[in-house]
Amino acid sequence: MVEMTDLIAKLRETQRLSSEGGGERFRTRHHQRGKIFVRDRIEILLDAETAFLELSPLAAHGLYGGEVPGAGIVTGIGLIHGRPCMIIANDATVKGGSFFAETVRKHSRAQEIAQQHRLPCIYLVDCGGAFLPEQDRVFPDQDHFGGGFWRQCQMSAAGIPQISIVFGGCTAGGAYIPALSDQVIMVRGTGRIHLGGPPIVKAAINEIVDGETLGGADMHTMVSGVSDHVAPDEETALQKLREIVANLGSEGAVAPPPQDPVEPLANSGSPEDYAPVDLKRPTDMRALIRSMADASVLSEFKPDYGASLITGFAHIHGYPVGILANDGALFSESSLKGAHFIELCDQRQIPLLFLQNITGFMVGTEAEKGGIAKHSAKLVYAVSNARVPKFTVIVGGSYGAGNYGMCGRGFRPRFLFSWPNARIATMSPDVASTVVTDLRRASLKSEASEDDIATLDAKTREQFEEQSDPYYATARLWDDGIIEPNQTRDVLGLCISLAAGEDQDTGPRPVYRM
Ligand code: COA
Repeated sequence: MVEMTDLIAKLRETQRLSSEGGGERFRTRHHQRGKIFVRDRIEILLDAETAFLELSPLAAHGLYGGEVPGAGIVTGIGLIHGRPCMIIANDATVKGGSFFAETVRKHSRAQEIAQQHRLPCIYLVDCGGAFLPEQDRVFPDQDHFGGGFWRQCQMSAAGIPQISIVFGGCTAGGAYIPALSDQVIMVRGTGRIHLGGPPIVKAAINEIVDGETLGGADMHTMVSGVSDHVAPDEETALQKLREIVANLGSEGAVAPPPQDPVEPLANSGSPEDYAPVDLKRPTDMRALIRSMADASVLSEFKPDYGASLITGFAHIHGYPVGILANDGALFSESSLKGAHFIELCDQRQIPLLFLQNITGFMVGTEAEKGGIAKHSAKLVYAVSNARVPKFTVIVGGSYGAGNYGMCGRGFRPRFLFSWPNARIATMSPDVASTVVTDLRRASLKSEASEDDIATLDAKTREQFEEQSDPYYATARLWDDGIIEPNQTRDVLGLCISLAAGEDQDTGPRPVYRM
């Protein structure tokens, strides 16, 4: 049987490899050009000894033959002069920092989080624009490259600062990131901005020109005005950026927690102890909640009704939170209880935390007669319309409509993280293979050979095993990253704090008893 320690060891090793970017050869070439590796740039930029909440570090994992680690971009939230900022930094050692479909998604997901929480966006630009062989998956559609520029303009207009440093050759789409920023710094010698680089210029108008003359830092800072500051080297540029952020005013400051944070009790165990590694075995979800909550206190709501959904109030790092956690399949009663609890939290303006470990809603004649379809829909409705910030962690299985009722990605939680034991799919491989082979049998009637059915069974099982793996999910940005169970409390504390100071919607908030 797989243990959580094995899963964590695999996660750390996979993240370590991904964090090396394009590998030794490209990193050496990068350094030889006097450039600093993307992760070291971020380290220099952020306040010393503070955490960096990296988002989707395993984006594009296993795709493109493993040649695009992290999707060629590093994104995450870190502190500059005590202010949380969204860092969006191209990794030029991965295909010249050019954009694949997952790069676009990761870039725009970071912008979306920044926009929701009014975090200044810091772009560390070193980017060759769209990865041309993939242009049909990167360039033309609403949520492709153009969508990122649209969002950048929207944020700037809304007063959310957009600031860039240009470190390398930024062509076409890469040029627009700084060009649309409120303030731009360029590094002399390596930073370049041009809508078309020298080869394009030659092809288009037969002009022969070198990169520095066409789009270098001095030209753009002193002649074209595209850039506002020129820095002699990367370190100076990063320090200049810190200085700019220090002078931004009070926008985006984090509201302190309403009560002092208290660590969970030492004898409450750690989340890792309660992680449902074997999804077929029940786990002590109350103990799991207590191991993450301030002082291990969970004040339960309706504990004697709809027992397969635990609902209750707790604090994390001093911030109040209403928790919904699965403890078995969702029945009509548990769905109604969940909807009622969500309305209570909405009325009291308490953020919601969903801990998913769900096989789905109950099926069968009895459940259907009891109205599971309409009762589960009430939960989905309440989740969709709750005005308070929502946060989701997939701590075990996330199957079928259970994913929806428990605030899966489609229901816009502010953040969604998975544990390394998570599984996400419409159904488990066992159930899927039965459904698919039964459908096949029915459509072929007597013509179905048992060999064909067995092959289909094995194929379906394999497909569902592969696609429900958390690495498959995180590579495609269905979550904001896989995190270790024992990191969850701190990660949530940061995420909840970002939303804590927001203006609240004070319109009527009814609670309909379900
Ligand atoms: N599309 C496809 N591949 C790209 C790319 C792009 N936009 N930008 C870089 N690459 C690839 C290179 O072909 C090379 O691939 P390889 O290692 O498989 O041979 C790798 O990325 C590294 O590029 P390289 O040119 O060696 O790196 P560099 O650091 O010297 O220069 C750039 C980086 C971005 C300045 C340079 O690659 C460049 O100008 N790229 C093209 C930019 C462009 O015209 N973009 C238009 C997009 S609409």
